[in-house]
Amino acid sequence: MINIAVFASGNGSNFQAIYEAVKHQRLDANISLVVCDRPGAQVIARAEKVGIPVFSFSAKDYESKSAYEEDLLIKLREHRVQLVVLAGYMRIVGEMLLEAFPGGIVNIHPSLLPSFPGKDAVEQAVAAGVKVTGVTVHYVDEGVDTGPIIAQQSVSIREGESIEAVTKRIHEVEHAIYPKILQKVIHRHLSILN
Ligand code: GRF
Repeated sequence: MINIAVFASGNGSNFQAIYEAVKHQRLDANISLVVCDRPGAQVIARAEKVGIPVFSFSAKDYESKSAYEEDLLIKLREHRVQLVVLAGYMRIVGEMLLEAFPGGIVNIHPSLLPSFPGKDAVEQAVAAGVKVTGVTVHYVDEGVDTGPIIAQQSVSIREGESIEAVTKRIHEVEHAIYPKILQKVIHRHLSILN
């Protein structure tokens, strides 16, 4: 068993998928904290509903990224977090967190990286007219969606398909694969930690 923190900024459907996997013992983890940088985001209500502690903050209340990450780190230590799982966290992770969790921060991104990094990845893919996009799970480094790739799954874009429709199918893939891949990452990480 490993203690994880899930970082999210919005809806939190991936948090929900991870939570369900833990609940049904498909993921050997304990979600000890949810971190959210947008007070009022749906993910906060989702976490509170199932009794998971939440730390929410507004970056604008701090002088710098390292100032809020310092606070984050205190919370992560309080909750004995061993692995950080980004699930729709819309901020670039800074040096403070990267150094505290070497090889211990994972992200999911809605494209086949290195194509379409950054924001609006589905919109970028549809605008580019590609026939295949997908989902990437990767370790986080100092760049934007540049860290080592752990796993990918493709999703084809149908003729004339709307951004909403592609997004919906991408989400379905995310919810199916993120818990599965995290299970492997967790066991790999535990073997390194122990
Ligand atoms: C997902 O598409 C994820 O790949 C991206 O942000 C979205 C988060 O969705 N990084 P949700 O908040 O989990 O519903």
